[in-house]
Amino acid sequence: MNFPAQAEGKFRDRRGVCPSFFFVFNHVSSWLTPGVEVIIQPNREAAASLVARIVAHDLRANPHLVLGLATGATMERVYRHLVRMHKEEKLDFSLCSTFNLDEYVGLFPSDPNSYRHYMDHHLFHHVNVDPRNTHLPNGLANDLDAECRNYEALIQRFGGIDLQLLGIGKAGHIGFNEPLSALRSRTRVKALTPTTIKQNAPMFGGEDQMPRRAITMGVGTIIEARRCILLATGDSKAEVVAQAVEGPITSMVTATALQLHARCTVVVDEEAGAKLKEKEYYRWIFENEPEWESYR
Ligand code: F6R
Repeated sequence: MNFPAQAEGKFRDRRGVCPSFFFVFNHVSSWLTPGVEVIIQPNREAAASLVARIVAHDLRANPHLVLGLATGATMERVYRHLVRMHKEEKLDFSLCSTFNLDEYVGLFPSDPNSYRHYMDHHLFHHVNVDPRNTHLPNGLANDLDAECRNYEALIQRFGGIDLQLLGIGKAGHIGFNEPLSALRSRTRVKALTPTTIKQNAPMFGGEDQMPRRAITMGVGTIIEARRCILLATGDSKAEVVAQAVEGPITSMVTATALQLHARCTVVVDEEAGAKLKEKEYYRWIFENEPEWESYR
């Protein structure tokens, strides 16, 4: 991890403006925000497109947006839409900053399986984001604990994350917060569960080739983002999505912590939403609430 933007004094330290203002603002805005909302889209393309449109909307409203990013197969479609919007609709990333959720321990950025490589390949190299404002944890740091502390501090120096994109693993993780991650956990090194190793092994050409540990933002770090959007598609996610949204809050399924968030939008396709009990209620909200008018 490096601090070029900080060294040049370019980052936005909103806390420096007036800490008490933001404390009060965040608390007041949490009274007014909707908590968790679920949007069910007909297919994975429509779901990814909706997420990209929310990102584009927030970026246009605030060009200095601090954007939290996720990797994984589900997010690839979202990044394809954002790249298209940059090219065709002049969506401007030049002033925004990004923080990724996680990175494997031990992979070089040039490794095709590193999350730095993923982000360059799917987004950064195709839009006008300033590379110096893109941040991922450094999984090669000599002192990994110090790296985790520095990553947290850097997020704070940028004023916190405005909009955090999330996928969900089959074990219910957000980031690499595997079962039994404390719901107040911060950025740290985490050992991957067998379920996650199995899920991601095909990218590495087999389980033997896969790193066993990753640096991940903690659950506590993630839910401090001002807004979270979780995207899940496909029937393999149906069970875990139902648990995450409608199940009891538990560190065994860390995505359940999002139920504590003041403003979290869960976007699913029909397949991933198939096991939700309150589908009709969620559909009614999306069809009727003015907030979603321009997305229908
Ligand atoms: C990766 C990450 C993970 C993935 C999740 C889903 O940065 O944060 O939580 O979002 O494992 O991965 P896919 O989309 O490949 O099913």
